[in-house]
Amino acid sequence: MTLNTPHIAPNGAEIAETILLPGDPLRAKFIAETYLENVTQFNTVRNMFGYTGEFKGQKVSVMGTGMGIPSASLYTHELIHFFGVKRLIRIGTCGGLSDVVDTFDIVVAASASTDSNFMAHYKLPGTFAPTASWSLLSAVAQEAEKQGVKLNVGNVLSSDVFYKSDFSDNKKWADMGVLAVEMETAGIYAVAAAAGVEALSVFTVSDHLFKGSDTTAEQRETSFTDMMELVLPVAAG
Ligand code: ADE
Repeated sequence: MTLNTPHIAPNGAEIAETILLPGDPLRAKFIAETYLENVTQFNTVRNMFGYTGEFKGQKVSVMGTGMGIPSASLYTHELIHFFGVKRLIRIGTCGGLSDVVDTFDIVVAASASTDSNFMAHYKLPGTFAPTASWSLLSAVAQEAEKQGVKLNVGNVLSSDVFYKSDFSDNKKWADMGVLAVEMETAGIYAVAAAAGVEALSVFTVSDHLFKGSDTTAEQRETSFTDMMELVLPVAAG
């Protein structure tokens, strides 16, 4: 019998223990077509495309998560609890908050603060600190060192709000040393922690909330490629 869930229907197709998780399902398709060999598609439900292939002979999957903690956490939950995924690497974009990051830098989330109420459902007697897997984080750091790529490793903000109002507190997060804002990592780290599996988020900075940025298509392409070249050897390691 083949196992399908409400949001993932592989109909028996394989899902690897290591998965790359871009937000955009078309980005997942592009990654599968560009970087993986012997690719099979394992999900089309809601057009949240998922693929399994090989990188340097090792099985790796890639699937979109959609945007925001509710979407990312439900896919993460199903991948871990129904399909045996053990290592989850979110790859995406983030908005720079800190002065120390610039547009097109690579940011790695050692930890993820959040303005979401997602953590409340764990009913913990305090504040949970969503944290990256050290084995994945140290592997990415070693790979960056080998490739001579600069990393910004630190705390990110996983926000429920993309379009900030006049009342928004972005500056306060920046003043706490938070490097960048995105919308999924705290949820993914929490779901992974509760299940005892490994998770890491790696981003390119697509815009900076406090610095002006004048960017070209070529710069966007190069920073995405740099991020993929960093993450793929770790995923296949
Ligand atoms: N991802 C990329 N830029 C972002 C921003 N400004 N806010 C939230 N998520 C983002």
